[in-house]
Amino acid sequence: MHHFQYKGDELYAEEVAVKDIAAQVGTPVYIYSHATLERHYRAMDGAFAAVPHTICYSMKANSNLAVLKTFFGLGGGVDIVSGGELHRAMVAGVDPAKVVYSGVGKKDDEIEYALKSGILMFNVESEEELDRIDLIAGRLGTKAGIAIRVNPDVDPETHPYITTGLKKAKFGINIERSLEQYKRAAGMANLDVIGIDCHIGSQLTKVSPFVDTVRKLKRLIAGLRESGIHLKYFDLGGGLGITYSDEAPPLPAEYGEAITAETRDLGLHLLFEPGRNLVGNAGIMVGRCLYAKQGEEKNFVIVDAAMNDLARPSLYGSYHGVQAVCRDQQGTIVADIVGPICESGDFLAKDREMPAFRQGDLIAFMSAGAYGFAMSSNYNSRPRAAEVMVKGAAFEVVREREKVEDLIRGERIPSFL
Ligand code: LLP
Repeated sequence: MHHFQYKGDELYAEEVAVKDIAAQVGTPVYIYSHATLERHYRAMDGAFAAVPHTICYSMKANSNLAVLKTFFGLGGGVDIVSGGELHRAMVAGVDPAKVVYSGVGKKDDEIEYALKSGILMFNVESEEELDRIDLIAGRLGTKAGIAIRVNPDVDPETHPYITTGLKKAKFGINIERSLEQYKRAAGMANLDVIGIDCHIGSQLTKVSPFVDTVRKLKRLIAGLRESGIHLKYFDLGGGLGITYSDEAPPLPAEYGEAITAETRDLGLHLLFEPGRNLVGNAGIMVGRCLYAKQGEEKNFVIVDAAMNDLARPSLYGSYHGVQAVCRDQQGTIVADIVGPICESGDFLAKDREMPAFRQGDLIAFMSAGAYGFAMSSNYNSRPRAAEVMVKGAAFEVVREREKVEDLIRGERIPSFL
């Protein structure tokens, strides 16, 4: 459920007409619904009410400060993957004791920054990283909380680009080698071995791969206990999918029930790193039709938003629903919605039946709150879109539209030219 619904023929974001936002802020624009963010957070949090847990929002999905602040206000922490993300989270007021740091390539300065900030733990993804964190923590005279990100070799049955828990993936430490690495870590002077972590993939539409993973990790946890290694945290990563079109992923409550049943007897504090599930359907992107063009074989709706604004269709062939902001079009057409970028891969919808959009019409691309703005770029020297948050009848710009001056900030023409 989300709060982007029609009132009559007008699409609204909560109590605000989307066309009013477009008129004031321009297009392309991302619009986030505060009520939807809150609802999704509470659904996930409530699903684990029976057990000690923390929701560490995976901020790579949408790292806007206003989104972060919304979740922190509800008691959430974050899953970060870079020093840049930590900076954002700190600025938005995160409790550092609710920060977990994942990622295969943590740099020295990032590790140092995280240690100095007092984060809860590092999800360690390689044997060498263990040594590195131990070394840096020692240098700083502190102890680093760590979990090993265990690669359980479970197929999440999702898109290959977002499958992360198979043996062939670059992520984590293979489950068979994990016990030995835990023992090694336990012997390191500057590490506090406090957790176990996994993340098997994204946009999962079944509970079973999560359950299979938990079962595998439970065997490892038992082995750790036998070796005298007692953990506090069990981080199950993120990955619960959402409905873009006709997918029917489990509700957070179902996911919560299954995971709670599997983990209750462990006596561990659970951590979750949901990204898409919290923000995906809490955001839309709105563009305007520049031209409607009948090609030789196809119809094209050319809009002012492009693959640099919303990369998912080009990158993964992803589906985003397309809706008229004002339903005043006559009839429907089958068309591609494309942007101004000079690549054939620049499309937002392909061979889709849609309202017969005309020049000037506003078009909403649904389910764009996750990995939308966060993956946008300046390709073709296009300033990045504005972002707006709506709460009830109020809305505010939470990131200004970039200006052309922003595009060349930091660039220099060298003295020898
Ligand atoms: N934890 C870790 C360690 C992750 O790598 C990810 C996502 C998450 C949590 C959150 O997963 P989620 O709950 O959002 O499924 N750009 C792709 C998705 C990439 C996901 C990367 N990792 C897309 O647009 O579909």
